[in-house]
Amino acid sequence: MLVLDRVSRSFGGLAAVSDVSFEVKAGQIMGLIGPNGAGKTTLLNLISGLDQPTRGSIHFNGQPIHDRPPHIINQLGIARTYQNIRLFAEMSVLDNVIVGLHTQGHAGLLSAVLLLPSYRSEERRLRALAQQLIARLDVQHFEQTPADALSYGDQRRVELARALATHPKLLLLDEPTAGMNATETARLGELILGLRAEGLSILVIEHDMAFIAQVCDEVIVLNFGQVIARGTPDQIKADQVVVEAYLGAAESVDA
Ligand SMILES: Nc1ncnc2c1ncn2[C@@H]1O[C@H](COP(=O)(O)OP(=O)(O)O)[C@@H](O)[C@H]1O
Ligand SMILES: [Mg+2]
Repeated sequence: MLVLDRVSRSFGGLAAVSDVSFEVKAGQIMGLIGPNGAGKTTLLNLISGLDQPTRGSIHFNGQPIHDRPPHIINQLGIARTYQNIRLFAEMSVLDNVIVGLHTQGHAGLLSAVLLLPSYRSEERRLRALAQQLIARLDVQHFEQTPADALSYGDQRRVELARALATHPKLLLLDEPTAGMNATETARLGELILGLRAEGLSILVIEHDMAFIAQVCDEVIVLNFGQVIARGTPDQIKADQVVVEAYLGAAESVDA
């Protein structure tokens, strides 16, 4: 479904992503782990069109997407959330999700601004759909609350609702459990498994190894922009190279 072939991205002299190749298959949940600065977010930016590779190719369902802008990639069926949450801070939770829906609605933003009749009927449909997603993500109590009044964990769920609003086939999640407690994290894991059961493919960046083990079929480990290991969560936890590069680094941070 998603195929990366020798993808590289340099910033000046820094090789943030170097020669990365992997594939996410339909219905698969792929984990992406690695120490801070390993190139994980850069890789998601390349897939979602926020940034372009210096070398290499990215294909989605057989189509090249490495030279396509973000809104086209979104229309092709790829949606994402951000490590640094990107909600409209003063807009309500409901409106934030409705904005996500407008990227695919028939009545465009221009008619929204002009409040044309085509917009008003479309708006009712989109509002109902947004409310369903908000309830599914368990943030329905905050429907009318400005996004920046929510905890980070709740904001992450609103972002996920907004991403799901575009009916993606592939979901890219950048540290979705950051700011969540253990209960919220476990519930998010169940939700993600539910989405996969509905046919979604997911590529998820995470530091929480328990979460990775709960949801991922396969894990890719990045270090200094390169893939240093791949395998099942159990294989990765037992891999000495990974333990030294990543889990060892995490321990020294804690110390
Ligand atoms: N726009 C940019 N300009 C220059 N350097 C960048 C840019 N984006 C990321 N980097 C650098 O690329 C490396 C990888 O960053 P990033 O992808 O954010 O890592 P991760 O998400 O794994 O923590 C880091 O050294 C970071 O400083
Ligand atoms: Mg990152």
